[in-house]
Amino acid sequence: ETIDVEAEQWERGGHEHFMHKEMHEQPETLQRMLSGRLDDRFATARLDGLQLEPRELRAFRRVKVLGCGSAYYVGQMGASMIEDLARIPADAEAASEFRYRNPIIEPDTLYVAVSQSGETADTLFAVREIQRKGGRVVGLVNVVGSSIARECDGGVYLHAGPEVAVASTKALTHMGIGFALLAVALGRVRDLSFADGQRIINGLKQIPDQVGEILEQEDAIATVAKRIADAQSMFFVGRVRGYPVAREGAQKLKEISYRHAEAYQTSELKHGPLALISPELPTVAIVPDDELLDRNLGACHEIAARRGPLVVVTHEGVELGDLRGDRIDVPRNEPELDPLLLTIPLQLLAYHAALALGHDIDKPRNLAKSVTVE
Ligand code: AGP
Repeated sequence: ETIDVEAEQWERGGHEHFMHKEMHEQPETLQRMLSGRLDDRFATARLDGLQLEPRELRAFRRVKVLGCGSAYYVGQMGASMIEDLARIPADAEAASEFRYRNPIIEPDTLYVAVSQSGETADTLFAVREIQRKGGRVVGLVNVVGSSIARECDGGVYLHAGPEVAVASTKALTHMGIGFALLAVALGRVRDLSFADGQRIINGLKQIPDQVGEILEQEDAIATVAKRIADAQSMFFVGRVRGYPVAREGAQKLKEISYRHAEAYQTSELKHGPLALISPELPTVAIVPDDELLDRNLGACHEIAARRGPLVVVTHEGVELGDLRGDRIDVPRNEPELDPLLLTIPLQLLAYHAALALGHDIDKPRNLAKSVTVE
């Protein structure tokens, strides 16, 4: 047993938890994932593993993403990237529900199964259901040679390296990058201009270092986490691109801190949940510097007026005026890629809340790393 303990400590490489190690590996693993996949000459992404000719890529009229839990939330981020960059209708659905509603499988839809482990039963069964009905499904998968990777008709490996902590961090960021690459590849055989392709490629090149910059704010984020860890319940709110970020932030916090956290679209607050705002219920608000900035800030003022504690996750340089609360800044990139960076502080927030509460961070109660049963 001593040998096992020592082996595990060695694998953690000086970090107290695998989750901590995995968050901090991101700048390096992301760099590795991007290398060789960015094509400056044609301002596009090279995804040979998809096994789809440009002619086939052009023929898809819809994209449907399937994944479970956090992979589903990143799938929502990915669907927005595909709609924004390739202008193809795209959405994400929980793979666990998909085959139970007798879904309509269309030959001109590209199905994308997204999974870290590649062994999630719900996602694997969705893949089989699609194939049985003649659909084409590609995988965004981390574990090489896993069931989903083998059974899909092609795919993109995430190259995040092994992920041990039940709470997924780096694999999710890699999924987000995988979707950005797919969106550029689909876009560039359609209406996405060379200049816009180049804009996204240049944005992607900055992501590894920018993730590193956010990780350097760990101490400040830990201070915020300790403050909110006492609350029994909290909200995570965001709009449009920020909404899946909020969902993922709430999910991460629930998994390892066992605190109740609920994600809402900021615009929905006034339709009900605002009634819960009080000094006991903090809200983490995702407020990127985009076309919704003023509306998002308006909602933050509504929360502050009801004395709800606020943590605003925003861009460097955004003026918050007299809004009281904590702020966490992320660096600027291209708006389509914002969700990737906005998610990183929420990983640290969940980690440090769980740490403050003394929970078993790498192996939270009731959860398994890969859910191989239905
Ligand atoms: C993430 O923190 C969760 N542990 C969980 O939601 C996970 O993302 C989900 O079970 C899907 O796993 P997969 O990526 O291995 O398919």
